[in-house]
Formats: sequence, C-alpha cells, structure tokens
Amino acid sequence: MSLVNTRMVGQIAVLEINSPPVNALSVQLRSDMLKALTTIAENTDVAALLLHCAGSTFICGADIREFDAEPLSPHLPEVIARLENFPVPVVALLHGHVLGGGLEVAAACHYRIADPQTNIGLPEVSLGVVPGAGGAQRMMRLVGVENAVQLATSGRAVKVTQPEYNAFCDALLSDTSFSHLEGLLALGLHWVELALQKGELVPRATANMALDQGEVDWEALTAKVARSAKSNPVPNKLLAQLQRDLCLSVQESESHTRHLFLELRQSLVAKALRHAFFLEKKLQAPRGKQPLRIDQVGVIGAGTMGGAIAICFADAGFKVVLLEQSEQALSAGLERIKVQYQGSCDKGRITQQQCDVRISLINGSCDYSDVADVDLVIEAAFESMEVKQSIFAKLDEVCKKSSILATNTSYLDINLIAQATARPESVVGMHFFSPANIMKLLEIVNADQTAPAVVEAMQQLAKKLRKQAVTVGVCFGFAANRMYSRYGREIQQMLLEGASVEQIDNAMLDFGMAMGPLAVLDLSGIDIGHNARAQYPQPEYDPGYFKVSTALVNAGRLGRKTGLGFYNYSTAKPTVDQEVVVLIKKVGDELGITQQHFNTESIQQRTFLAMISEAAQVIEEGIVSEKEAIDLIWLHGYGFPRAKGGPMFMAEQYGIASLQAKMEKMRELQGEKIWPSLELAQYINQD
Ligand code: COA
Repeated sequence: MSLVNTRMVGQIAVLEINSPPVNALSVQLRSDMLKALTTIAENTDVAALLLHCAGSTFICGADIREFDAEPLSPHLPEVIARLENFPVPVVALLHGHVLGGGLEVAAACHYRIADPQTNIGLPEVSLGVVPGAGGAQRMMRLVGVENAVQLATSGRAVKVTQPEYNAFCDALLSDTSFSHLEGLLALGLHWVELALQKGELVPRATANMALDQGEVDWEALTAKVARSAKSNPVPNKLLAQLQRDLCLSVQESESHTRHLFLELRQSLVAKALRHAFFLEKKLQAPRGKQPLRIDQVGVIGAGTMGGAIAICFADAGFKVVLLEQSEQALSAGLERIKVQYQGSCDKGRITQQQCDVRISLINGSCDYSDVADVDLVIEAAFESMEVKQSIFAKLDEVCKKSSILATNTSYLDINLIAQATARPESVVGMHFFSPANIMKLLEIVNADQTAPAVVEAMQQLAKKLRKQAVTVGVCFGFAANRMYSRYGREIQQMLLEGASVEQIDNAMLDFGMAMGPLAVLDLSGIDIGHNARAQYPQPEYDPGYFKVSTALVNAGRLGRKTGLGFYNYSTAKPTVDQEVVVLIKKVGDELGITQQHFNTESIQQRTFLAMISEAAQVIEEGIVSEKEAIDLIWLHGYGFPRAKGGPMFMAEQYGIASLQAKMEKMRELQGEKIWPSLELAQYINQD
C-alpha cells in the first residue's frame, strides 16, 4: 500500500502523505513520493501541486529507526531536487510539526502556506547528525543566515509565527472557522486557486534565491553554540561547515553537509542521542486506556518545593489548592509564586495573559477542608516521618474516597506513611526534583499496597505535566537519590584520598556533567543530605561516609546560602579557600586514609564505576523494572551528558570484562559491602 495518495481538484494535483504516526520520511515514503511526483509531472492538465499530510502533523523528519542500517535509495536529496525542479508551482500546506527532513522538503517547495500553530525546526543536531538535504542552506535564503543557523544549530523548534521566521511562509491560514484538517485543506486549496487565477504562482527554486549574508558575528555565534551544545560536538561542526560554505551554491554546500550527515550517523554521539530519544519514548506511559480523572489538585506545603510543584500543575492547566499551616507562610509562598511567574513573563517565556491565568489557578488555604474534594493531593512538607504521618492521617480523614494521596518524600519509607491512612492502596510517591517546575524527572514510587490503577494514573499525569517519569519501588532514596548518593559517596572518598575540590568538579565538567558535583552540593545546601543521613546510623563498614560534608556543616559552611561551602562565594568567581583544604585533610588524617594521585581520567572512572555498581544493585533488587530507567534518571535528574547516552549505554561501550575487573580491584581496596560482587552481564548489553 502506498504511503501517498494523489487526486485532482480542478487543475490542482493534491499529494497527500499518509504515514502515521508522524509522517517520517522512511525509504518507502521517499520512494512513493518520487513515483507520485513522476506521475503528476506527466499530467499536462496539472497547473499546480499542493503537498500536504494526513494526521496530526506534517513530515517530522527522517525515520530515525532507519539510522542503524545502511542508507537506502532513493535518498532525500533526490526527492527534494525533484520537488524544487518541478515543472508546475509546488505549494506545501503545513500543520503540526515540520521537522528535520520535513522542513527540508517544505523549504524546497516553491510556496509555503501554514496553520499559525505550526512548529518548525531542524532537530538533527539533537540526534547527533546534521540536516543532509540542504535544509539549512535553503532556510538561510528564506529567513536570513543568522536565523537559519540558530535554528539548525540549536535543534529547537519554533512557532512559524515567530517574527524572525515570518518570511518562511507565504500565507498563514488563520481562519478561525477551521477546526479539522479538512478545513485547513479547503483553505489551502482556495489559496492556491486564487493565486492561480491571479497568475501569481510560478515555479521558483529556493536554491536560486540570492543569499544575503547580513552581518553575522560568527565568533560570538560559535561561542554561543558551544555553550548551549554542552558535550554535543555536532552543532559546532555544522556551524563551521555552513560558515565555510557561505559563498558556495546550495547544491555544492548541500553535498558537504550530506557527507557530514553520512559520516555522523554512525558516530557514538549519534548512537547515544538516538538511544536517549528512543528510551524516552519507550518509558512514556502508554496512551491512556481510561481518561485521566484528575482536575483539581492539592499541594501541602507552600515552601520552595511545594510552590514549584504548584507551578508545575498550574503550567499544565490544573486548578491547585495550596495548603499551609499559617497565613504568614501561605502569603510568603503565594508571593514567591507570583514573583516567579512575573519573572518568566518579563523574560518573554510566557505572555502576561498566561501569567495571570496561571497565578489565578493557584488558590491558597490554611484549612484542610479545602482539599476535601481534590482528586490528588501532593504532600511537600518537612522531611520527617512524624510530620508526614500526621498529615496523611488528616488527609485520610478529610479527602473524598477517590482522592489519590501522594507524597513528595525523597527518602522516607512510603509504606510507613501509607500506614497512617485507612487507604494505603491510594497512597503513592510523586518524587519531584528541584526545581520541580524545571527538572524533567519524576519518580513515581509504587509502595507495597499502591493500587496499579493509581500508578497508571500517575504515569498518565506525568505525561500531561511534560515530565519524564520512571516508576520505582521503595528503598532508601528510591532509585535516583540512592544512585546519586553512591556517586556522592565516591566523590567524598576521593577528596579524603587527596583529590582536590577543583580537580573533582573540573573532571566531572570535562566528562560533560551539567555542573561539578561539589558546586551542586553548595547550591542545594550541604546540610540537606547531611540532615537526611543523620536520621540513620553511619555505615560502620564505610568510615569516611560523607565525613567531608559533616565537617563542613559543623564548620557552618552550608553552601551558597551561607556564602561558604566547598567554595567561598565572597568574590565574583568562587574559589576554594584554605579552610576547606585543611578540613578535608584533617578528616582524612584522622581516618588514616592513604593519599593517592588523581587525574581527570581516574576521577571520571571512579565515579562511573560507582554509578554502574549502584545501578546494577537497583536493577537486581527490582527497584526499577527496566534498565533503561537508569539512563533516563541520570539524563533528566542529574545533568548526565546526553551525548553519552547515560551510564548503562556507556557501560555497553566500555565492555563488561573491563568493568568487572576494575570493580574487582575496588572491592579488594574498599571491601565488598561498598563494592558488592555483581554479575554485570545480567544488566549490561554486550556488543
Ligand atoms: N522517526 C521514527 N519514529 C518517530 C519519529 C521519527 N523521526 N518521530 C517520532 N517517532 C515515533 C515515536 O517514537 C513514537 O512512537 P511510538 O508511538 O511507537 O512510541 C511516535 O512516533 C509518536 O511520537 P511522540 O513523540 O510520542 O509524539 P508527540 O506528538 O509527543 O511528538 C514529535 C511528536 C514529532 C514532536 C516528536 O516525536 C519528535 O520530536 N520526533 C523527532 C523528530 C526529529 O527529530 N526528526 C528529525 C530526525 S533527523
């Protein structure tokens, strides 16, 4: 069955692409398009061609599933050349997303008309490749060099109505009467008919348009692209290629980016980014069998976390009751929310109207009866079992029977929290990461008695909140904080063994982490983890266990909030002062820890081994059911470099035998309680 349909409407040939779910440019689609174009070109009755897509979107780019195999003919440049050189005018009718190869197709058409809600983008770099069919070069001619380069190197999609991209479309079909695709198609056909009647449509090749090079500050652009691309080298490669080719024709420049595309598609970075893309899709909740019955939400606690959770829900359009104990704490919390929204509005991230609507969705209260009718309550109060149990007992008393009762606890045993209610099946963990309205990761904690329907509802909800959710079981720190703690433990141990604060942070920045781990501790507050650990006995088999944090907290160095932590924040550029060096040395000496020489590689390797060791245990204990969840947690919770795919993906490249041998060595040095014996082959794929 062909993936394209053609029909005649008067003198207009309508070519409809129908390849659900996203009309990706698979080899079959490319081939079917070419066949249809040949047939239409032979029909002398055709005065114009209208190209559009069935379903919710225009073409969303290459079929990524084909990237692991050899590229098969016909290739996209052939389809694009056929469209661009078509004997009659070609009009692309755009809706939904116009991405990657889809944008390259649209840019090669002679005219573009679009639904104003359409998004356009060249996301190739976020998959470790580059637009290989001249899309960036044609966009330079349509919307200017700088705007096109920004689009292609950022990988981010923008609304077609964004002023910088105005010239991309010849018309926006902003008639409010259409609500369906047929309506849009009717408007598109009408536009083509009128333009034909007026004699305004002629075949015109975008590649032949003059290129206005404008005044681009390439040096500044290169620095900006490098900053935002982080550990992904591809955006800068593309930028350099486009800059080098500025004086060349589209065809010549396209052959260079095509070559780059073919070279990059099998690179490790591209494989890692594809791995990240597909694991995000795989772990997304299945499309809901039952409609989600959550309209109104209660949040207990208007502190930093509770406020950010309320914002997260209001951003997704939910009504929120924000509950606090005192009027004073409540009004301070509501004020913080207002300031935050107004800040987003001032920065242009949301409109004033969106800002007002979202603020109005959050209503404060100090009265538990105001959460009686909400469908879901998320408790974000002080991290103490006693406090949480008393809140849950109260919620159990006031909330309607169908309410789901969720806790945002980071470490506490949710089974014990559930025991404070007479409905443990309705109690679940919703562990947000700070700042909750920004961080993508959400742990849904499935406690012993949580009903499967409740977990399913939380998974659906996560999608609405635009979170990347993983479902995990109960253990200290659940999956994410438990692994992050293990990473933190190894870092503190290396400090005691003689690695410096700067060495550690620089090594992990060099690895590609979003921030150095000690700078992260300073930012979040060294006392937070310290207080959580203080509720549990110190592991006797690990004498140095977070002793550096303890020493800093005892010295009043809690991080940025006190101006002193691992770093001293009294100057514009934070520095490590002598007091910290002495403190760490003193703890190491007291414990009799042997000093070692560290370098970037040895630090990166130790932390990586610790991540894998704990990840394997988390999988072994069934805390996560899929090993892909590990990579998702690190990518979306802790700033692990996406271009490396996540620890489990890296472990596959590293090789099991080599990892096993290195862990064995650590076990000999530090004991099997810290480095347990693990059959890594059970958890890590082998090439
Ligand atoms: N190739 C192959 N499959 C693709 C795809 C592509 N380019 N884009 C999306 N899909 C698949 C998804 O894996 C998902 O499959 P599933 O239903 O089996 O899980 C399905 O299409 C729907 O995608 P989803 O992301 O769930 O839908 P959405 O409506 O939330 O988002 C897009 C749609 C197009 C915005 C999003 O999928 C996307 O950004 N895709 C990547 C586009 C891209 O990078 N193209 C350039 C390739 S070089």
